Amino acid sequence: MRIPEEIIERIRQSADILEVVGDYVSLKKKGQNYSACCPFHNEKTPSFNVNPARQIYKCFGCGKAGDSVRFIMDIENVSYPEALRSLAKKYSIEIPEQEATPEELLRQNERESLFIVLNFAKDFYRKQLLESEDGRGIGLSYFRERGFLNDTVDAFELGYSADVWDALLLEAQKRGYRPELLAKAGLILTNDRGRTYDRFRGRVIFPIHNVSGRVIAFGARILVNDKNQPKYINSPETEVYHKSQVLYGIFQAKQAIRQEDVCFLTEGYTDVISLHQAGIRNVVASSGTSLTIEQIRLISRFTENVTILYDGDAAGIKAALRGLDMVLEEGLNVSVASFPDGDDPDSYVRKVGTEAFKKHLQDHTQDFISFKTEMLLRDAGDNPFKRAEVITEVVQSITKIPDAIKRQVFFQKTARQLRVDEQTLISESNKLLRKQQDKPVRPRNEPSAPPAEPPFDEFWGDMPVEPAPAAPEQPAKPAVSQVQTLYYRHEEECLRLLLNYGPVELEPSVSLCHYMLHELNGIQFVTPLFRDMLNDIRAGFAEQEIRSAEYFLRHSSREVQQQTVHLVTNRYELSDGWLKHEIYVPTELDKIADAAYGNVLRLKKTIVEDKMEAVKRQIAEAQDRQEYEQCIELMTEFKHLKEIDKQIAAELGTVVTG
Ligand code: CTP
Ligand code: MN
Repeated sequence: MRIPEEIIERIRQSADILEVVGDYVSLKKKGQNYSACCPFHNEKTPSFNVNPARQIYKCFGCGKAGDSVRFIMDIENVSYPEALRSLAKKYSIEIPEQEATPEELLRQNERESLFIVLNFAKDFYRKQLLESEDGRGIGLSYFRERGFLNDTVDAFELGYSADVWDALLLEAQKRGYRPELLAKAGLILTNDRGRTYDRFRGRVIFPIHNVSGRVIAFGARILVNDKNQPKYINSPETEVYHKSQVLYGIFQAKQAIRQEDVCFLTEGYTDVISLHQAGIRNVVASSGTSLTIEQIRLISRFTENVTILYDGDAAGIKAALRGLDMVLEEGLNVSVASFPDGDDPDSYVRKVGTEAFKKHLQDHTQDFISFKTEMLLRDAGDNPFKRAEVITEVVQSITKIPDAIKRQVFFQKTARQLRVDEQTLISESNKLLRKQQDKPVRPRNEPSAPPAEPPFDEFWGDMPVEPAPAAPEQPAKPAVSQVQTLYYRHEEECLRLLLNYGPVELEPSVSLCHYMLHELNGIQFVTPLFRDMLNDIRAGFAEQEIRSAEYFLRHSSREVQQQTVHLVTNRYELSDGWLKHEIYVPTELDKIADAAYGNVLRLKKTIVEDKMEAVKRQIAEAQDRQEYEQCIELMTEFKHLKEIDKQIAAELGTVVTG
């Protein structure tokens, strides 16, 4: 359901950046601004800054930037409307929410309809569990037997599906939900005889929530021991449920993960629920699959420490080893903790209680590298060849760790464990690194930014700035050609002027925006992001609206928003006087016009020179093919371009900037 524009405005007005960010990090006042250690990346000295006057934040370390709404989107990993809803809740702003009629549902986008129907199904299963005879007699008593208390059943919104073919389907249809939508949500199935029926029947229901607490799927457990039926039936992949990106329990766990600064990773729904009930709430489950990169990134938003709690059997150990190098690669600190054979975290915590469980974790948690080394050594026994393989294997894992200091620590530790010289491990690792660097790098779509300007700028005042972490081992950035860099620089500068000074009147009824768009007529920017932004400004101007910083700071695209913060906060190329006052000084009016004109000229010069290069190449090719007529044509064109280039240069000489 759309949130009315005036409500969005009220939310934005209320959501003070200091309060919103302050919920997640502790801000320290530094002059006009505030700083903290960045919640988006790991750092020891604060490079995350909040500017209350402009109501924006920016991290000089990782580049994340935006306004209050963007902050919530980034930190909670939610969509724009979800972020607005969450802020509305925080500020007790009511969003008018009508009961949607089926027709309205039709019109709403599919994702939103899926969320609504999934939420309906969740409520339905809950009602069945708590109010129907079978639900209470079978479902609820099953949960009781497992020791789940009422609060726990509520916290995880557990439910029950009756043992009939179409209870959900009938109720849904009564409410006007179309069967196609139910099918898309994975709630019903159709057999080859055309009969439609509920996917979940005669099972207890575990709703799966996304980070912001919306139900996106279900897991359903059988109640009896039946070898012919799967223990769990789960929702299929849908538009809103991508199994590989989801961790069961993340919504209930995220706060505790942040507080405890560690995430316990288990295998099953019941592990999460039992530990939660036992007061250990920083727990999620991968739901029986091996960990994916998306799941790791999800965790790393809340902590950089993961402890994998795995069953003591061999399969559990193998599963724990798989995919873990990937976790190291993401910079997370990985530990593993094992349980006695035959126990999983759920059964173990019920057996020994919370305190003993915590004690067990303390005593049995081991960092992943030494765990792996130990396991492999045990397998290798005295076989020298196998021992050599162990070294290679372990060095491979250590090499994946991005932090050089951490790597160093592991080389020392592992050398002792393997009883080899530390230097042996290091040179082995260096070999691997060199091999990695020789690999061709995957080309990117866009040229990356030219050499970054110093991350420090006057606008942010005297804030400490952590230099971007040097990463010599990382593969070299894809080469960006000289001309791409020039395009980037000039285009960026054009946008900087447009965003900061678009509405400024150069002459009566000629704004800077008007003037620059006129000068840029017929030019498309080369850098994709800048091209989109310029076209956005053009579209606005056609509607008599000047789109400047205000507009782009609220843009729906993260990239655009970040770029905008960058453009309105970074060092401005004009004289210092501009920076200090940050207001338009009438006597300097000429300077801004000159800056605009000069910059457009520089951009045009780049375009012409780029064209000249292209023509030169064509001439050489034509010569190779001995097509002399075409050669002459091309040379004429080249001369013409050369002439224009000269004119621009002359023109540039007359423009004084700065
Ligand atoms: N799983 C599944 N389908 C199955 C078996 C398991 O999707 N047929 C997933 C579930 O997410 C389950 C997890 O794998 O939670 C771990 O499986 P298991 O250890 O067998 O289940 P538990 O969660 O321990 O359930 P219970 O304690 O009720 O046996
Ligand atoms: Mn279990």
